[in-house]
Amino acid sequence: MKKFQDPHISLAKESQIDEIYSIMTTVATQMDHPEYYVIDDRNYVARHISQEGFTLLWQEVDTIAGFLIVHLPTPDDPHNLGRDLSFSSLQLQGVSHMESAAVLPQFRGKGIQKKLISAAETRVRSLGFRYSLCTVHPNNLPSLQTLLSLNYEVSTTKLKYGGKLRHIMKKEL
Ligand SMILES: CC(C)(COP(=O)(O)OP(=O)(O)OC[C@H]1O[C@@H](n2cnc3c(N)ncnc32)[C@H](O)[C@@H]1OP(=O)(O)O)[C@@H](O)C(=O)NCCC(=O)NCCS
Repeated sequence: MKKFQDPHISLAKESQIDEIYSIMTTVATQMDHPEYYVIDDRNYVARHISQEGFTLLWQEVDTIAGFLIVHLPTPDDPHNLGRDLSFSSLQLQGVSHMESAAVLPQFRGKGIQKKLISAAETRVRSLGFRYSLCTVHPNNLPSLQTLLSLNYEVSTTKLKYGGKLRHIMKKEL
């Protein structure tokens, strides 16, 4: 598959798992509203290098400034967000998730999340996926604004992840 158009963007490799996980935990511990950004463990990052999806990095010289984890659920995965939207079994086959995204505070304000999602959409579309779904806390304005500006729509709003309020955002690719 061809490289990404933006030279700052690359696919994460196994050797970068610890750095990604470190950014994830650093950002999570600095949140004013911790419930906006729920993180998983290191193994979750490891599984999203190539097994259950992929991870895109934004690099500034030799530093990872931010990342986006893309999950490619199976149609029968109970966590496939298409289930929350009553997707048909055919639609469930075409679902990709834009999952964990974080940008280190010193690199924010340049739309890095938007550029990462945009590159991920191109990649999942070329892999045959038809829907890009994700969740966002209704008051997580930087992330919500990014998604709205990429033409995601709020499909429903409900409690997810053991009782956390989330919009489920949808975009047809
Ligand atoms: C979400 C996050 C990745 C976005 O970082 P970023 O790409 O640098 O985002 P930006 O600062 O460029 O802002 C993106 C958009 O939100 C807008 N925005 C930023 N802060 C805002 C605020 N407080 N109120 C309203 N809009 C805001 C920006 O103007 C921009 O809008 P535009 O595209 O129309 O210009 C980053 O804030 C982060 O790491 N947050 C913590 C982790 C998190 O919440 N992740 C998302 C859930 S998985």
